[in-house]
Amino acid sequence: MEKITTIDKNLFIHYAEKYGTPLYIYDADLIVKRYKELYNYIKWPKLKILYAMKANYNIGILNLLKNNQAFLDTVSPAEVHLALKLGFSKEDILFTANNITDDEMQEIKKTGVLFNIGSLSRLQKFAAAYPESEVCIRFNPDVYAGEHKHVQTGGAITKFGVLLSEVDRIKEITSKYNIKVVGLHEHTGSGISETDKIYKSMTNLLEIAHQKDFPHLQFIDFGGGFKVPYKPTSARIDYAGFGEKISSIFSDFCKRYGKDLYIYFEPGKYIVAESGYLLMEVNSIKNNRGRLIAGTNSGFNHLIRPLLYDAYHQIENISNPDGELKIYDVCGNICETGDCFAEQRELPEIREGDKLIIKNAGAYCYSMGSIYNLRSMPSELLVAKGEEFLITKKLSNKALADSLIASAIK
Ligand SMILES: Cc1ncc(COP(=O)(O)O)c(C=O)c1O
Repeated sequence: MEKITTIDKNLFIHYAEKYGTPLYIYDADLIVKRYKELYNYIKWPKLKILYAMKANYNIGILNLLKNNQAFLDTVSPAEVHLALKLGFSKEDILFTANNITDDEMQEIKKTGVLFNIGSLSRLQKFAAAYPESEVCIRFNPDVYAGEHKHVQTGGAITKFGVLLSEVDRIKEITSKYNIKVVGLHEHTGSGISETDKIYKSMTNLLEIAHQKDFPHLQFIDFGGGFKVPYKPTSARIDYAGFGEKISSIFSDFCKRYGKDLYIYFEPGKYIVAESGYLLMEVNSIKNNRGRLIAGTNSGFNHLIRPLLYDAYHQIENISNPDGELKIYDVCGNICETGDCFAEQRELPEIREGDKLIIKNAGAYCYSMGSIYNLRSMPSELLVAKGEEFLITKKLSNKALADSLIASAIK
């Protein structure tokens, strides 16, 4: 079995003592490995992997990826500004516009970053304001896939993308304003286990590219959605086989199109999910009529995926790995009943003071966090080849209160 992380588990206790808990820990070497291996799996020579920075926008992680020549997928003006400030060049960033305002459109246009537009009304406004510009168009691939309905972005019930059947309207608007469509895009969903559905989305989009005349195309972007195993029993998808299949689909398309285009993918979860751990401490054990509840010093404000998506995250009791197995609800310190990381989970006996780790906490965990209940976000530690870098620091309770007072309008 593949050894996933280079972090030695014995070190978690040391990290807890040195940096306190709760604490996010990321394995830098694994992030780089995951980013680079996609280039080995997908052999098509014109390939760009755009890291979807919404998965984890930590500056230490972005710098790490920049040093490894990564491209970026961004979804908000602040993401674009952050990326540019960190030294990503505008050519290496794609901005996927989702219900943006006119002001935001102007703000992004000034940066020179390419827009990926997914609605006819925004395209109309963009084209009228910036005739002769280049643009990428996001289509709804008309395929349902993804590990939870909240992360399925194709098919009938989604706000994303232009319908495939509306392609003629795209042609009308872009011809009227001499807009060059340099890219076509689709994102089917997140955590897709059925690769057949990805191929179907791809072929649906390629059909549009082939049938309708888009003479300026430089790339086709097939979004993110690469799945990683969250449960110990889940299989790892054969992305080497996937890479071969998509290269062959794309090569056939390019022959018909008459030019070799770039393939773009925009994975977030695949690059960072497995690299991350949330380390926390148990501060109470309750027995509610036989139901054991382990209360921790973190909560759903730090890691919301179980509550939001019913997501399963593996938990380990690193203080007592060989303890007697018992069934626990593992909960947080937020004043909400739903504040549970796992219900009825079998774990080695948990005692007050034990340290637990939640695995696969690198994607959509810190970045979806909040200070709900006025509890600060944890510090974040990046471990690169055994070296520790504290990359963000938790605000003390007083500093958090002060930050609210400082941002209040006097
Ligand atoms: C447009 C777009 N691209 C890429 C991604 C990244 O998806 P994932 O993290 O599942 O790879 C998302 C996720 O929501 C997305 O909406």
